[in-house]
Amino acid sequence: MSFRVYQDRTKVDDTVILYLKYHYMMPLKLQAGGVHQTCYGALRHDDVIGKRFGSKIPCSKGYLYVLHPTAELWTVNLPHRTQILYTPDISMVLFQLDLQPGSVVVESGTGSGSLSHAIIRTIAPKGHLYTFDFHEQRVEKIKQEFKEHDVGDLATVRQRDVCSDGFDLEDVADAVFLDLPKPWLAIPSAKKSMKPSGGRICCFSPCIEQVQNTCEELNNNGFTDLSTMECLLRVFDPRAINLPIADIGDKGSADTNSQDKKMQKVKETDDKMEKKDSKNARGKNDFRDRPGRDFGPCYSFTTAAPPEKMPGHTGYLTFASLPPV
Ligand SMILES: C[S@@+](CC[C@H](N)C(=O)[O-])C[C@H]1O[C@@H](n2cnc3c(N)ncnc32)[C@H](O)[C@@H]1O
Repeated sequence: MSFRVYQDRTKVDDTVILYLKYHYMMPLKLQAGGVHQTCYGALRHDDVIGKRFGSKIPCSKGYLYVLHPTAELWTVNLPHRTQILYTPDISMVLFQLDLQPGSVVVESGTGSGSLSHAIIRTIAPKGHLYTFDFHEQRVEKIKQEFKEHDVGDLATVRQRDVCSDGFDLEDVADAVFLDLPKPWLAIPSAKKSMKPSGGRICCFSPCIEQVQNTCEELNNNGFTDLSTMECLLRVFDPRAINLPIADIGDKGSADTNSQDKKMQKVKETDDKMEKKDSKNARGKNDFRDRPGRDFGPCYSFTTAAPPEKMPGHTGYLTFASLPPV
Protein backbone atom coordinates (compact mmCIF):
# COMPACT_ATOMS: atom_id res chain seq x y z
CA MET A 1 0.00 0.00 0.00
CA SER A 2 1.50 3.34 -0.91
CA PHE A 3 0.76 6.37 1.22
CA ARG A 4 2.67 8.58 -1.19
CA VAL A 5 0.82 7.99 -4.50
CA TYR A 6 -2.88 7.54 -5.03
CA GLN A 7 -3.91 4.17 -6.46
CA ASP A 8 -7.28 3.58 -8.05
CA ARG A 9 -8.24 0.14 -6.72
CA THR A 10 -7.58 -1.90 -3.58
CA LYS A 11 -5.42 -5.03 -3.62
CA VAL A 12 -4.35 -7.81 -1.24
CA ASP A 13 -2.10 -6.56 1.64
CA ASP A 14 -3.31 -2.96 1.29
CA THR A 15 -4.10 -1.02 4.48
CA VAL A 16 -7.40 0.67 3.73
CA ILE A 17 -9.66 2.88 5.86
CA LEU A 18 -13.21 1.66 6.46
CA TYR A 19 -15.69 4.51 6.86
CA LEU A 20 -18.71 3.15 8.79
CA LYS A 21 -20.36 6.39 9.91
CA TYR A 22 -19.50 9.96 10.96
CA HIS A 23 -16.65 9.78 13.49
CA TYR A 24 -16.41 5.99 13.14
CA MET A 25 -13.64 4.67 10.93
CA MET A 26 -11.07 1.91 11.24
CA PRO A 27 -7.98 0.67 9.36
CA LEU A 28 -8.04 -2.78 7.81
CA LYS A 29 -5.27 -4.82 6.17
CA LEU A 30 -6.84 -6.74 3.28
CA GLN A 31 -6.20 -10.48 3.17
CA ALA A 32 -7.62 -12.99 0.69
CA GLY A 33 -10.44 -14.97 2.38
CA GLY A 34 -10.41 -12.73 5.49
CA VAL A 35 -13.56 -11.77 7.40
CA HIS A 36 -13.86 -8.69 9.64
CA GLN A 37 -16.69 -8.05 12.12
CA THR A 38 -18.18 -4.54 12.05
CA CYS A 39 -21.22 -2.87 13.62
CA TYR A 40 -22.95 -3.66 10.30
CA GLY A 41 -22.16 -7.36 10.50
CA ALA A 42 -19.45 -9.41 8.79
CA LEU A 43 -17.34 -7.80 6.06
CA ARG A 44 -15.68 -10.24 3.66
CA HIS A 45 -12.27 -8.92 2.57
CA ASP A 46 -12.87 -10.47 -0.86
CA ASP A 47 -15.82 -8.05 -1.29
CA VAL A 48 -13.36 -5.16 -0.90
CA ILE A 49 -10.32 -6.45 -2.83
CA GLY A 50 -10.21 -5.03 -6.37
CA LYS A 51 -12.85 -2.34 -5.69
CA ARG A 52 -12.26 1.33 -6.52
CA PHE A 53 -11.39 3.50 -3.49
CA GLY A 54 -14.52 5.39 -2.41
CA SER A 55 -16.81 2.42 -3.23
CA LYS A 56 -19.83 1.51 -1.10
CA ILE A 57 -19.36 -2.05 0.20
CA PRO A 58 -22.28 -4.17 1.44
CA CYS A 59 -21.98 -6.05 4.78
CA SER A 60 -24.46 -8.58 6.18
CA LYS A 61 -26.45 -5.85 8.04
CA GLY A 62 -25.63 -2.61 6.25
CA TYR A 63 -22.85 -0.99 4.24
CA LEU A 64 -19.66 1.01 4.57
CA TYR A 65 -17.17 2.86 2.33
CA VAL A 66 -13.57 1.95 1.58
CA LEU A 67 -11.19 4.96 1.59
CA HIS A 68 -7.60 5.48 0.44
CA PRO A 69 -5.38 6.30 3.44
CA THR A 70 -4.01 9.83 3.78
CA ALA A 71 -1.86 11.32 6.55
CA GLU A 72 -5.01 12.90 8.05
CA LEU A 73 -7.03 9.66 7.97
CA TRP A 74 -4.06 7.78 9.42
CA THR A 75 -3.90 10.24 12.35
CA VAL A 76 -7.48 9.39 13.37
CA ASN A 77 -7.11 5.65 12.72
CA LEU A 78 -3.58 4.66 13.75
CA PRO A 79 -2.94 2.21 16.58
CA HIS A 80 -2.00 4.42 19.57
CA ARG A 81 1.27 3.57 21.32
CA THR A 82 1.50 7.07 22.84
CA GLN A 83 -0.35 10.35 22.92
CA ILE A 84 -0.29 11.80 19.42
CA LEU A 85 -0.49 15.10 17.58
CA TYR A 86 -3.75 15.79 15.72
CA THR A 87 -4.36 17.57 12.45
CA PRO A 88 -4.96 21.15 13.77
CA ASP A 89 -1.54 21.14 15.51
CA ILE A 90 0.08 19.18 12.68
CA SER A 91 -0.99 21.67 10.00
CA MET A 92 0.42 24.56 12.05
CA VAL A 93 3.71 22.67 12.54
CA LEU A 94 4.14 21.87 8.82
CA PHE A 95 3.32 25.46 7.86
CA GLN A 96 5.45 27.21 10.50
CA LEU A 97 8.45 24.93 9.88
CA ASP A 98 8.35 26.00 6.19
CA LEU A 99 8.33 22.36 5.10
CA GLN A 100 8.13 21.58 1.40
CA PRO A 101 9.09 18.78 -1.01
CA GLY A 102 12.83 18.23 -0.52
CA SER A 103 13.07 19.45 3.10
CA VAL A 104 15.20 17.49 5.58
CA VAL A 105 13.61 17.18 9.03
CA VAL A 106 14.80 15.85 12.39
CA GLU A 107 12.07 14.66 14.80
CA SER A 108 11.92 13.24 18.34
CA GLY A 109 10.07 11.40 19.81
CA THR A 110 8.54 9.38 17.04
CA GLY A 111 5.77 8.06 19.32
CA SER A 112 2.95 6.58 17.22
CA GLY A 113 4.14 8.24 14.01
CA SER A 114 1.14 10.54 13.60
CA LEU A 115 3.21 13.63 12.84
CA SER A 116 5.89 11.57 11.05
CA HIS A 117 3.41 10.44 8.36
CA ALA A 118 2.33 14.05 7.72
CA ILE A 119 5.96 15.24 7.54
CA ILE A 120 6.84 12.47 5.07
CA ARG A 121 3.86 13.29 2.85
CA THR A 122 4.99 16.96 2.80
CA ILE A 123 8.70 16.45 2.07
CA ALA A 124 8.30 13.62 -0.51
CA PRO A 125 9.59 12.68 -3.02
CA LYS A 126 13.14 13.98 -2.42
CA GLY A 127 13.22 15.07 1.25
CA HIS A 128 14.15 13.00 4.28
CA LEU A 129 12.92 12.52 7.85
CA TYR A 130 15.31 11.47 10.64
CA THR A 131 13.11 10.36 13.52
CA PHE A 132 14.31 9.28 17.00
CA ASP A 133 12.69 7.51 19.94
CA PHE A 134 14.32 5.78 22.91
CA HIS A 135 11.55 3.14 23.16
CA GLU A 136 12.58 -0.09 21.40
CA GLN A 137 9.09 -1.47 20.55
CA ARG A 138 7.91 1.91 19.21
CA VAL A 139 10.96 2.12 16.99
CA GLU A 140 10.42 -1.41 15.61
CA LYS A 141 6.70 -0.79 15.03
CA ILE A 142 7.20 2.46 13.14
CA LYS A 143 9.90 0.89 10.94
CA GLN A 144 7.40 -1.84 10.02
CA GLU A 145 4.62 0.69 9.35
CA PHE A 146 6.84 2.88 7.15
CA LYS A 147 7.77 -0.22 5.14
CA GLU A 148 4.13 -1.31 4.77
CA HIS A 149 3.13 2.23 3.76
CA ASP A 150 5.87 2.39 1.10
CA VAL A 151 7.65 5.38 2.66
CA GLY A 152 10.62 3.51 4.20
CA ASP A 153 13.16 5.17 1.89
CA LEU A 154 11.99 8.64 2.96
CA ALA A 155 12.71 8.09 6.65
CA THR A 156 15.55 6.95 8.92
CA VAL A 157 14.32 5.64 12.28
CA ARG A 158 16.81 5.43 15.15
CA GLN A 159 16.52 4.23 18.73
CA ARG A 160 18.28 6.82 20.85
CA ASP A 161 17.90 8.95 23.97
CA VAL A 162 18.30 12.32 22.31
CA CYS A 163 18.35 14.21 25.62
CA SER A 164 21.43 12.43 26.96
CA ASP A 165 23.13 11.29 23.71
CA GLY A 166 22.05 13.94 21.18
CA PHE A 167 21.06 13.30 17.55
CA ASP A 168 24.57 12.56 16.22
CA LEU A 169 23.72 14.56 13.09
CA GLU A 170 25.56 17.62 11.77
CA ASP A 171 24.57 20.30 9.22
CA VAL A 172 21.75 18.31 7.59
CA ALA A 173 18.37 19.60 8.78
CA ASP A 174 16.16 22.40 7.49
CA ALA A 175 13.86 21.94 10.47
CA VAL A 176 13.64 20.18 13.85
CA PHE A 177 10.56 19.10 15.76
CA LEU A 178 10.65 18.04 19.44
CA ASP A 179 7.75 16.33 21.26
CA LEU A 180 9.58 15.29 24.46
CA PRO A 181 8.96 15.74 28.18
CA LYS A 182 12.13 17.89 28.45
CA PRO A 183 12.74 19.30 24.96
CA TRP A 184 15.19 21.92 26.27
CA LEU A 185 17.77 19.18 26.92
CA ALA A 186 17.86 18.32 23.21
CA ILE A 187 18.15 21.89 21.89
CA PRO A 188 22.00 22.18 21.72
CA SER A 189 22.19 18.94 19.73
CA ALA A 190 19.19 19.98 17.58
CA LYS A 191 21.08 23.16 16.69
CA LYS A 192 24.12 21.13 15.67
CA SER A 193 21.96 19.03 13.34
CA MET A 194 20.73 22.09 11.43
CA LYS A 195 22.22 23.38 8.17
CA PRO A 196 24.67 26.34 8.35
CA SER A 197 22.08 28.23 6.28
CA GLY A 198 19.81 28.12 9.35
CA GLY A 199 16.27 26.83 9.70
CA ARG A 200 13.24 26.47 11.92
CA ILE A 201 12.55 24.57 15.14
CA CYS A 202 9.32 23.68 16.94
CA CYS A 203 8.85 22.27 20.46
CA PHE A 204 5.48 20.87 21.55
CA SER A 205 4.75 20.96 25.31
CA PRO A 206 1.51 20.61 27.28
CA CYS A 207 2.60 22.85 30.21
CA ILE A 208 3.62 26.49 30.27
CA GLU A 209 6.54 25.74 32.65
CA GLN A 210 8.02 23.46 29.96
CA VAL A 211 7.58 26.31 27.47
CA GLN A 212 9.50 28.68 29.78
CA ASN A 213 12.48 26.29 30.04
CA THR A 214 12.43 25.72 26.29
CA CYS A 215 12.39 29.45 25.49
CA GLU A 216 15.30 30.08 27.85
CA GLU A 217 17.39 27.37 26.16
CA LEU A 218 16.41 28.56 22.66
CA ASN A 219 17.63 32.07 23.59
CA ASN A 220 20.87 30.68 25.08
CA ASN A 221 21.55 28.84 21.81
CA GLY A 222 21.10 31.83 19.50
CA PHE A 223 17.61 31.08 18.18
CA THR A 224 15.53 34.15 17.27
CA ASP A 225 11.88 35.09 16.52
CA LEU A 226 10.48 32.95 19.36
CA SER A 227 6.74 32.59 19.28
CA THR A 228 4.44 30.29 21.26
CA MET A 229 0.94 29.48 20.11
CA GLU A 230 -1.96 27.17 20.91
CA CYS A 231 -4.18 25.69 18.20
CA LEU A 232 -7.82 25.35 19.18
CA LEU A 233 -10.48 24.14 16.81
CA ARG A 234 -13.25 26.78 16.88
CA VAL A 235 -16.81 25.63 16.51
CA PHE A 236 -19.64 28.06 15.80
CA ASP A 237 -23.32 27.59 16.73
CA PRO A 238 -25.62 28.69 13.92
CA ARG A 239 -28.69 30.67 15.05
CA ALA A 240 -31.79 32.10 13.41
CA ILE A 241 -32.33 35.70 14.52
CA ASN A 242 -35.51 37.80 14.05
CA LEU A 243 -35.25 41.56 14.55
CA PRO A 244 -38.37 43.76 14.48
CA ILE A 245 -38.22 46.25 11.64
CA ALA A 246 -37.83 49.79 12.98
CA ASP A 247 -40.99 51.91 13.04
CA ILE A 248 -39.87 55.48 12.41
CA GLY A 249 -43.37 56.96 12.65
CA ASP A 250 -45.75 58.37 10.07
CA LYS A 251 -44.13 60.54 7.38
CA GLY A 252 -41.37 61.66 9.68
CA SER A 253 -43.73 62.81 12.51
CA ALA A 254 -42.34 62.50 16.02
CA ASP A 255 -44.53 59.42 16.79
CA THR A 256 -41.95 57.35 18.66
CA ASN A 257 -44.50 56.01 21.10
CA SER A 258 -45.37 52.76 19.29
CA GLN A 259 -41.66 52.04 18.59
CA ASP A 260 -40.83 52.60 22.27
CA LYS A 261 -43.64 50.22 23.30
CA LYS A 262 -42.42 47.60 20.83
CA MET A 263 -38.82 47.78 22.07
CA GLN A 264 -40.03 47.63 25.68
CA LYS A 265 -41.87 44.38 24.81
CA VAL A 266 -38.72 42.97 23.14
CA LYS A 267 -36.68 43.80 26.24
CA GLU A 268 -39.22 42.19 28.61
CA THR A 269 -39.24 38.98 26.54
CA ASP A 270 -35.46 38.88 26.40
CA ASP A 271 -35.17 39.45 30.18
CA LYS A 272 -37.64 36.63 30.86
CA MET A 273 -35.77 34.26 28.54
CA GLU A 274 -32.43 35.18 30.07
CA LYS A 275 -33.75 34.24 33.54
CA LYS A 276 -35.00 30.93 32.12
CA ASP A 277 -31.63 30.34 30.39
CA SER A 278 -29.66 30.90 33.57
CA LYS A 279 -31.94 28.45 35.45
CA ASN A 280 -31.30 25.87 32.73
CA ALA A 281 -27.55 26.60 32.90
CA ARG A 282 -27.56 27.69 29.26
CA GLY A 283 -25.23 30.44 28.02
CA LYS A 284 -26.90 33.84 28.24
CA ASN A 285 -26.34 34.33 24.50
CA ASP A 286 -28.04 31.10 23.58
CA PHE A 287 -31.25 32.01 21.75
CA ARG A 288 -31.99 28.52 20.40
CA ASP A 289 -34.99 27.83 22.68
CA ARG A 290 -36.59 31.23 22.35
CA PRO A 291 -40.06 31.29 20.86
CA GLY A 292 -40.51 33.52 17.77
CA ARG A 293 -41.42 37.02 18.93
CA ASP A 294 -44.61 38.31 17.44
CA PHE A 295 -43.88 42.01 17.00
CA GLY A 296 -45.09 42.44 13.44
CA PRO A 297 -42.77 42.43 10.45
CA CYS A 298 -39.28 41.14 11.26
CA TYR A 299 -35.90 41.09 9.58
CA SER A 300 -34.72 37.44 9.77
CA PHE A 301 -31.20 36.22 9.23
CA THR A 302 -28.89 33.37 10.20
CA THR A 303 -25.76 34.07 12.18
CA ALA A 304 -23.27 32.08 14.24
CA ALA A 305 -21.32 32.56 17.44
CA PRO A 306 -18.56 30.60 19.21
CA PRO A 307 -19.26 29.05 22.63
CA GLU A 308 -18.05 31.13 25.59
CA LYS A 309 -15.60 28.43 26.73
CA MET A 310 -13.43 26.52 24.27
CA PRO A 311 -12.09 23.17 25.58
CA GLY A 312 -9.44 21.25 23.63
CA HIS A 313 -6.00 22.20 24.97
CA THR A 314 -3.43 19.73 23.70
CA GLY A 315 -0.23 21.71 24.09
CA TYR A 316 1.74 24.82 23.22
CA LEU A 317 3.76 25.04 20.03
CA THR A 318 6.93 27.09 20.42
CA PHE A 319 8.58 28.08 17.13
CA ALA A 320 11.94 29.76 16.58
CA SER A 321 14.42 30.45 13.78
CA LEU A 322 18.11 29.67 13.66
CA PRO A 323 19.83 32.45 11.71
CA PRO A 324 22.45 31.51 9.07
CA VAL A 325 26.00 31.16 10.39
C1 LIG B 1 4.04 12.00 22.96
S1 LIG B 1 5.05 10.87 22.15
C2 LIG B 1 5.28 11.60 20.55
C3 LIG B 1 4.05 11.48 19.68
C4 LIG B 1 4.29 11.88 18.25
N1 LIG B 1 4.56 13.29 18.12
C5 LIG B 1 3.09 11.51 17.40
O1 LIG B 1 2.45 12.45 16.83
O2 LIG B 1 2.76 10.34 17.28
C6 LIG B 1 6.61 11.14 22.90
C7 LIG B 1 7.65 10.12 22.54
O3 LIG B 1 8.91 10.60 22.96
C8 LIG B 1 9.69 9.48 23.34
N2 LIG B 1 10.76 10.03 24.20
C9 LIG B 1 10.64 10.56 25.44
N3 LIG B 1 11.84 10.97 25.89
C10 LIG B 1 12.74 10.69 24.92
C11 LIG B 1 14.16 10.87 24.79
N4 LIG B 1 14.87 11.43 25.77
N5 LIG B 1 14.77 10.47 23.64
C12 LIG B 1 14.03 9.91 22.66
N6 LIG B 1 12.69 9.70 22.72
C13 LIG B 1 12.06 10.09 23.83
C14 LIG B 1 8.72 8.56 24.03
O4 LIG B 1 9.19 7.23 23.99
C15 LIG B 1 7.44 8.76 23.19
O5 LIG B 1 7.33 7.76 22.22
